[in-house]
Amino acid sequence: MAERLLITEVSPRDGLQNQAVRLPTEAKLELIRRLHAAGVSSVEVASFVSPRAVPQMADAAEVVAGLARVAPGLRGSALTPNLKGLQRAIGAGAREVAVVLSATETMNQRNIRMGLDDAARECEQVLRAAKAAGLATRAYVAVAVECPFEGLVAPATGVALAERLLAAGADEIVLAATIGAASPGQVRALLQAAAGTIPLEQTAVHLHDTRGFGVAGAWAALECGVRRFDASAGGIGGCPFAPGAAGNLATEDLVLLAQQTGLDTGIRLHGLADAIAFAERQLGRTLGGRSLAWYRRTTHNEGDPRT
Ligand code: COA
Ligand code: ZN
Repeated sequence: MAERLLITEVSPRDGLQNQAVRLPTEAKLELIRRLHAAGVSSVEVASFVSPRAVPQMADAAEVVAGLARVAPGLRGSALTPNLKGLQRAIGAGAREVAVVLSATETMNQRNIRMGLDDAARECEQVLRAAKAAGLATRAYVAVAVECPFEGLVAPATGVALAERLLAAGADEIVLAATIGAASPGQVRALLQAAAGTIPLEQTAVHLHDTRGFGVAGAWAALECGVRRFDASAGGIGGCPFAPGAAGNLATEDLVLLAQQTGLDTGIRLHGLADAIAFAERQLGRTLGGRSLAWYRRTTHNEGDPRT
């Protein structure tokens, strides 16, 4: 049996948070339903943040509450940067939450209006409270390679923060190259620095494709043994508070890379393309990672058992 590669699909959160078009709750749930139908097993579905800061996420509770109806059995997580967010997520019935700690002072200020020390303490509190409530937890270390305000981040900085988050109860650490500036060599250097501190089975990598380095970074992480990735269908994504954080690594590009490397994501490209077409109709524009246009041009994909 092929080795598994777990993809957490982040289009409903990282993907939509920066879009000008507001999607109705039912459209978000339909996107999640189609992703699940395509074989996606893990989705970050929403964030419980200030609706003034991110209006697109104002209906996070309704999205979480609708999951059991549209995608039974799906692993759905929600971003909860503070205790208020965690309380709202628990109230909505979330089973998994994620915290986000940026590796620099300025990025924390811009993102969650707290300095690094306060943000780290808030994340620890959220993680402890989430574990006490019986939830599964993810913890992002954002701008782990480069910060749009402070420049390059030393690998040891992100690793030290990850160590704190693990100690506070993170089940999974998500090393995030938020602005897509990470070269494959920098991804490797970060993972080499993390080896021995963050267990590989608890390590996920979150990449953006701003400079076309998405798949190259994923390959570097695969070579380091990472088997957990975040990706976004159609490559939609970006952080409104991090200049340069354009589209995420596209799920279709990563699925194709996995297929051609003999790794099993459980995701069928045909179903994924259907979910992306739905998102395109909702957002009123063409989406897609590098491979989508090629995939759509090929006529043999329908019914192809490999896809
Ligand atoms: N959900 C909803 N509302 C929240 C909230 C949450 N998790 N946390 C705070 N609020 C509300 C407060 O109730 C308060 O509302 P009020 O003015 O009506 O009383 C208001 O937001 C300000 O609260 P405060 O604690 O002072 O927060 P803040 O202004 O320092 O903002 C965040 C902190 C985290 C809520 C805000 O910066 C935020 O939502 N950032 C978005 C982060 C994000 O999504 N980034 C992209 C993904 S990494
Ligand atoms: Zn991101």
